[in-house]
Amino acid sequence: MIKHKYTLKCEGKYMELKIGVIKGDGIGPEIVGEAVKVLDKIGKVYHHTYSYCQLLLGGASIDVYGVPLTEDTIEKAKSCDAVLMGSIGGDAKTSPWYKLEPSKRPEAGLLGIRKSLNLFANLRPAVLYEELKDACPLKEEITKDGFDLMIMRELTGGLYFGERKTEEKDGVITAYDSLTYNENEIRRIAKRAFDIARKRGKKVTSVDKANVLDSSRLWRKVVEEVATEYPEVSLEHMLVDNCAMQIVKNPKQFDVILTENMFGDILSDEASMVTGSIGMLASASLNETKFGLYEPSGGSAPDIAGKGIANPIAAILSAAMMLRFSFDLDQEADAIEKAVKQVLKEGYRTKDIISEGKTLVNTAEMGDLICERIE
Ligand code: IPM
Ligand code: MG
Repeated sequence: MIKHKYTLKCEGKYMELKIGVIKGDGIGPEIVGEAVKVLDKIGKVYHHTYSYCQLLLGGASIDVYGVPLTEDTIEKAKSCDAVLMGSIGGDAKTSPWYKLEPSKRPEAGLLGIRKSLNLFANLRPAVLYEELKDACPLKEEITKDGFDLMIMRELTGGLYFGERKTEEKDGVITAYDSLTYNENEIRRIAKRAFDIARKRGKKVTSVDKANVLDSSRLWRKVVEEVATEYPEVSLEHMLVDNCAMQIVKNPKQFDVILTENMFGDILSDEASMVTGSIGMLASASLNETKFGLYEPSGGSAPDIAGKGIANPIAAILSAAMMLRFSFDLDQEADAIEKAVKQVLKEGYRTKDIISEGKTLVNTAEMGDLICERIE
């Protein structure tokens, strides 16, 4: 699917990249704008060129087409080398999007694009930034050595995509959702987790509920089989309720957490919260190829949308992840991450991460500061 047209020149490779851009809803357009600014700066410094393809998804698509995802968006996304996304969704109490039936709401668009593009591997890093330690809600004794974990969430199976129904039987309304995995779905995500762990702390914690669920028992069996192919990576199993506890008790014990869709949804919110800086966390959703969809871990934050105060760093770091995972541009990704750390070190903060003695900046100023530090 990927057609990278790059020419080798001198010391580096110059690439011509087609990037899909989903600004989405809420703060999405503002933060994606800053990420694009940073990509453009990288292009200037490292001589890459981009063509951006604007795509509509979620509420933004409902407003134009009446549905949260169109065939056109799927086809256009497939023609891109990677997609950068802002956020999807609005305020469920006030937004007209939530008067529509569930399958027509913004979130259905997000689930639809994940499935259509086969983005089964969702990587959600949760890192404690030294500069933002004050914002971390955990005790100093727990965080003193920092932590850096990666949640590998299965994204196209399980409860999210199983058969579901609401029906009335003998006058009683009953609803069900089903959690299904086959061994192939488990194997491919497990391999991804071990591949990543091999390049990081060499440890996989596979999280399940094998004391209750059949799907978890199969999960455990297949993960153990995959582990034999990676002798240098250690494997442990953990029950999901215990994992939720361990993330607040001792997050440093984790390297890669491998888990199914629903558990991963819940645990990744918890993990991002304990870093104290959800506006800083990026994520990647990948398929079998190098193609990926990159988005901030935080939501669309409709309460602060349009005010120019949102933290663009998660979107900017998502762009860095895109350069690293889809294009193997490690040097460029490093440059972005280094610039982000530098700006934080110099004391610049958006409203969500401000603390005493630091300099408050808005969304665009933060983007500019990061661009200026990329050389
Ligand atoms: C996420 C979100 C989505 C999910 C919602 C918006 C459908 O919570 O990306 O974690 O549950 O996957
Ligand atoms: Mg979630």
